[in-house]
Amino acid sequence: MTELFEESYLLNEMRNYAKTNHIPIIAPEGASLLLQAILARQPHVILEIGSAIAYSTLLMAMCMPPGASIITIEINDDRIETAQEYIARSGFASRIQLIQGDAAVVLPTLQGSFDFVFIDAAKGQYLDYLNKIKTRLAPQATIIADNVLFRGMVRSDAKPPRRFKTIVKRLRDYLHFVTTHPEFTTQTYEHGDGLAISYYQRSE
Ligand SMILES: C[S@@+](CC[C@H](N)C(=O)[O-])C[C@H]1O[C@@H](n2cnc3c(N)ncnc32)[C@H](O)[C@@H]1O
Repeated sequence: MTELFEESYLLNEMRNYAKTNHIPIIAPEGASLLLQAILARQPHVILEIGSAIAYSTLLMAMCMPPGASIITIEINDDRIETAQEYIARSGFASRIQLIQGDAAVVLPTLQGSFDFVFIDAAKGQYLDYLNKIKTRLAPQATIIADNVLFRGMVRSDAKPPRRFKTIVKRLRDYLHFVTTHPEFTTQTYEHGDGLAISYYQRSE
């Protein structure tokens, strides 16, 4: 997996682009967990919420099984344009559908079911995203949410700075939901900015 990060010319270029242009992309430790989960789950249809320049999209594409596809949603016009260029150069264009728009609006319009979901968009909306796609989760879907420990604030007893109060509260709400709801089994990892991996088991 380390080889994938280091040897892919395109991914390397994307990391440099992200750094130069201050685009947030998944941290290497989180990326490694994400890829391990893709390899373990072997999903057929992946949903990504928050593509940015499609760095994590292409990481997942490089590890997904033959025939699998990705739907990815991004709200920012400039990032969409850059993502489209990278996807076009990646060789995975026919297997990736990039949707422009607010995930809160796009999610209820999606058809089909997803066996792997990567949530990495507006941090205050994770629970809302999950609720919007819950009926679209395949039995035994895997859901990964990035940044769930948000700079260490989510598990800290200290009061978060005022501007992060809502995000921290909502991330706590998300973690509470996926760790207590009977249909989800969740493990939270401290890698990167915190990653929650939830395994969905639909009750009959
Ligand atoms: C952390 S970045 C995604 C990084 C990407 N997953 C990666 O690791 O390469 C979060 C992205 O979510 C997008 N975003 C924020 N709110 C959104 C929304 N309501 N709907 C869709 N995308 C959104 C932002 O524009 C940003 O590009």
